[in-house]
Amino acid sequence: MRRGYLEFLFAVSLVLLCVNTDADAAGHNLQGIVGGSVRIRCGLDPFSGFNGLYFQKKSSEGQEIFINGYYDRPLTVLPEYINRTFFNKTDLSMEMTNLTLSDEGDYLCIFICNGANCKETKFYLTVTANYSVPVLEVQGCRSGPGAHNCAISCSSSGGHPPSSVTWGVIGNKTSSPITDKEESVIIQDVNSSLWNVSQTVRLNCSHPLNITCSVGGVVSHAVSVCQDPDTQDKHVVVVCAVAVLLLILTIIIIFVIMSRRIQIPAETPPSTDVELQNLNSRQAG
Ligand SMILES: *[C@@H]1O[C@H](CO)[C@@H](O)[C@H](O)[C@H]1NC(C)=O
Ligand SMILES: *[C@@H]1O[C@H](CO)[C@@H](O)[C@H](O)[C@H]1NC(C)=O
Ligand SMILES: *[C@@H]1O[C@H](CO)[C@@H](O)[C@H](O)[C@H]1NC(C)=O
Ligand SMILES: *[C@@H]1O[C@H](CO)[C@@H](O)[C@H](O)[C@H]1NC(C)=O
Ligand SMILES: *[C@@H]1O[C@H](CO)[C@@H](O)[C@H](O)[C@H]1NC(C)=O
Repeated sequence: MRRGYLEFLFAVSLVLLCVNTDADAAGHNLQGIVGGSVRIRCGLDPFSGFNGLYFQKKSSEGQEIFINGYYDRPLTVLPEYINRTFFNKTDLSMEMTNLTLSDEGDYLCIFICNGANCKETKFYLTVTANYSVPVLEVQGCRSGPGAHNCAISCSSSGGHPPSSVTWGVIGNKTSSPITDKEESVIIQDVNSSLWNVSQTVRLNCSHPLNITCSVGGVVSHAVSVCQDPDTQDKHVVVVCAVAVLLLILTIIIIFVIMSRRIQIPAETPPSTDVELQNLNSRQAG
């Protein structure tokens, strides 16, 4: 009985310990997007008695690079950071703007007490870039004899990290209509280090389908494919009829406006001569 109670206490304290560590780790992971900005806050818990604070970054070679901060003497900020890091003494934070992919990495806040490091806080900054809205290209996707040639490709660019293509199909009742998926093509741009992603799939066009694709969480517009060619033709006819109607309307409106413009100088000013003539002719008649 007693032992069970102790075991229970032990389990509870273990759980509490785990919850604490998790919350701590989550608070120190920061996210930013390319071109955006991020604020790194060092004053997470109350702490005083320091006379300096350094923001540092761990380079890929493991060296620590001073970014910004303050001390009782002026500190030299690297040109790379001087116009895009802003130190705030009030809330002990640093804002970094114009983020690039190379800003991703480990950061340290180092508090200085009487010339020595007295407290450190670690951060990890992840920098991502949003993919463009994926574009779908459709080839040969009418139902009927050409159905087995239906191919759809999805492409998106300028994202980070690399991502795969996810397909969304609405309208399939039983099995998936995707008969073949080509390998995704994932290419990194040499200059920007951002990724371009594309993939082509083939469809069984036996039913009308609405297709979307998504890359890195960004979803394309839906396209309707494998429709009855008759209904497609009907749509074309309706669109053409509306276009012709609009054209005729426009011509009529232009005609009316033009004829009004031409009439205006004829109506005003009313010429006294003409009125006199009218009078004369009426009296004569
Ligand atoms: C930072 O901005 C100042 C003032 O706008 C400018 O004179 C300086 O050249 C800039 N430095 C860098 C490294 O961009
Ligand atoms: C931020 O990035 C833009 C676009 O690349 C650039 O024109 C601007 O000079 C940058 N500003 C700083 C402070 O680096
Ligand atoms: C510094 O932080 C304080 C508190 O968050 C805020 O009120 C102040 O506007 C900030 N100063 C600057 C220059 O951003
Ligand atoms: C596809 O989308 C259109 C327009 O939203 C809708 O009218 C049609 O019923 C959809 N077709 C299928 C197969 O879900
Ligand atoms: C296409 O789908 C239909 C109905 O789901 C099926 O009968 C037919 O065998 C499929 N064709 C191919 C080539 O998979």
